[in-house]
Amino acid sequence: MCGIVGYIGYEQAGPFLLDGLEKLEYRGYDSAGVCLNDGKELVVKKAKGKLKVLKELTDNGRKLDGTVGIGHTRWATHGEPSDVNAHPHLSESGRFAVVHNGIIENYQQLKDYLTSKGVVFRSMTDTEVIVQLIEYYYKGNLIDAVIKMLEKLEGSYALGVISRENPDEIIAVRKESPLIIGLGENENFIASDVTAILSKTRKIYRLENNEIAVLNRENVKIINTDKEEIRKDTETVNWDINAAEKGGYEHFMFKEIMEQPKAIRDTISPRIKNGRVVLDDISLTAEQLKRFTKINIIACGSAYHVGVVAKYIFEKMLRIPVETDLASEFRYRDPIINDKVLTIVISQSGETADTKEAMKEAQRRGSHVISVVNVVGSAIAVESDEVIYTWAGPEISVATTKAYSTQLAVIYLMALYFGDMLGTIVADEYKALVGELEQLPERIENILQHKEKIQYLASKYFNSRDIFFIGRNIDYALSLEGSLKLKEISYIHSEAYAAGELKHGTISLIESGTPVIAIATHEELIGKIVSNIEEVKTRGAQVMCIACDNHPEMENIGQTIYIPKVCDMLLPSLTVIPLQLFAYYVASLKGCDIDKPRNLAKSVTVE
Ligand code: G6P
Repeated sequence: MCGIVGYIGYEQAGPFLLDGLEKLEYRGYDSAGVCLNDGKELVVKKAKGKLKVLKELTDNGRKLDGTVGIGHTRWATHGEPSDVNAHPHLSESGRFAVVHNGIIENYQQLKDYLTSKGVVFRSMTDTEVIVQLIEYYYKGNLIDAVIKMLEKLEGSYALGVISRENPDEIIAVRKESPLIIGLGENENFIASDVTAILSKTRKIYRLENNEIAVLNRENVKIINTDKEEIRKDTETVNWDINAAEKGGYEHFMFKEIMEQPKAIRDTISPRIKNGRVVLDDISLTAEQLKRFTKINIIACGSAYHVGVVAKYIFEKMLRIPVETDLASEFRYRDPIINDKVLTIVISQSGETADTKEAMKEAQRRGSHVISVVNVVGSAIAVESDEVIYTWAGPEISVATTKAYSTQLAVIYLMALYFGDMLGTIVADEYKALVGELEQLPERIENILQHKEKIQYLASKYFNSRDIFFIGRNIDYALSLEGSLKLKEISYIHSEAYAAGELKHGTISLIESGTPVIAIATHEELIGKIVSNIEEVKTRGAQVMCIACDNHPEMENIGQTIYIPKVCDMLLPSLTVIPLQLFAYYVASLKGCDIDKPRNLAKSVTVE
């Protein structure tokens, strides 16, 4: 969950490295650094804090000299965020430099060993052992030294290495952390993710575990740890370069909220043909599907919240028991999973370490895994048995919005597709649902056009200390997401509660003026949630509601934001829009760093 970038070519590397780091800052932003070979020495510049500190220090990279360099933006694991712990790290003599994403699990052992040999360490990081090992093993051939070093490493890594001894080379290698190689004309690149190099090239190699890339200005050679050359096909990336730019918006989060109608359209349109859902992505037959006795959903963060929504939808429409699990819990609880269980893994990045490992655990136990992933070619997408891509495009803001929405869209597609195969949805209902699904992007556009009311309500609540979210059934799943969105970007304490559960403890926290956001869209339970709202109002709560426009009476209960009445299955896609906007406006009024909230990172590639 750090960002790596590297350049080798004939132009000055500095400006590209700084620009690339800016694109990768979502991966970590507690410190950043670059190292360039200026023809004589490896020169390192690094700084604690957001990238802007390093940008100022180097005049956006223009003050740096050299046509070969590596850069890094960090999310600290070992060693607090500081100048000295920031990457790149140099070997003791300053002849080698490395940037690293991942965790070296046996670093202490390696550090003790090197220390006993007289090596002096400067930082508190696990990464420094990598570069010290390279120097320790270097006997005139950098690749040999890197391979020898790799034999000693345990853990996960994506690495970029440069050396004073080999001024015309970058070496890159990965294991369990993403790394791509960009291929240009007389220049080549390394990066954690394509957004960093899109301005230069669309032609890439995706490194697999234990593949080593040797880059010079003219070409790139991929070898294995026995130094045998590996022939790989290049891939052409079709992401729109503008998608990784703010395009006039103040924040990526707002831009991505506004992009949701398009993202959903892109995700569903190619999969609806003549009124029928066609999931060419999936090879499961009706026969195979009928053999499953349970669906197991695994994810983290907001993707987990999509899984909570999916539980309600799948159980209702497919009549199969569904268990939704946090990936980090699933892995270590000896889950009862076998070949009768279908596993669905949801992940925007496709790289989340907990989700990936949980997926492998399910596979080891015989479960068939379908992944729902946004980043093409990412580890989860490649290693799952089948993948359904969400076509949200690059999502930069740490707080997810359009990826969440496209994940929901894929859940609807799956519910319809599987329901049809299993015969659990009747023809008329199927037709009506597909029709409504096709209209979903327009409905969302409509809510987005009326965002001012949400902005107004945000202005009333932005000074709150705590905000509670309540809902029942699917509305409870949306409460979880609304509460997470708010707390992650505005730092207001927030909790989500199943409305019926409030009275078993949490209601004791409600006092005069406590804001409660009640989601009341689920038709069958309107009466019940209204009673729960009355319970908190009686204790002094100030209530804001999200309700469907066929219930104008909600206005008498609390300040209400209306969404269009659609079928139950699709309501989450509408409900989430005011929740996202509310969190955004609150954070904006508080002056928070919305796209890069403190302590977080978008892509969490450590456990
Ligand atoms: C991080 C992000 C969340 C995201 C979660 C899962 O915590 O900040 O926004 O929901 O990871 O990420 P994934 O890429 O697996 O969807």
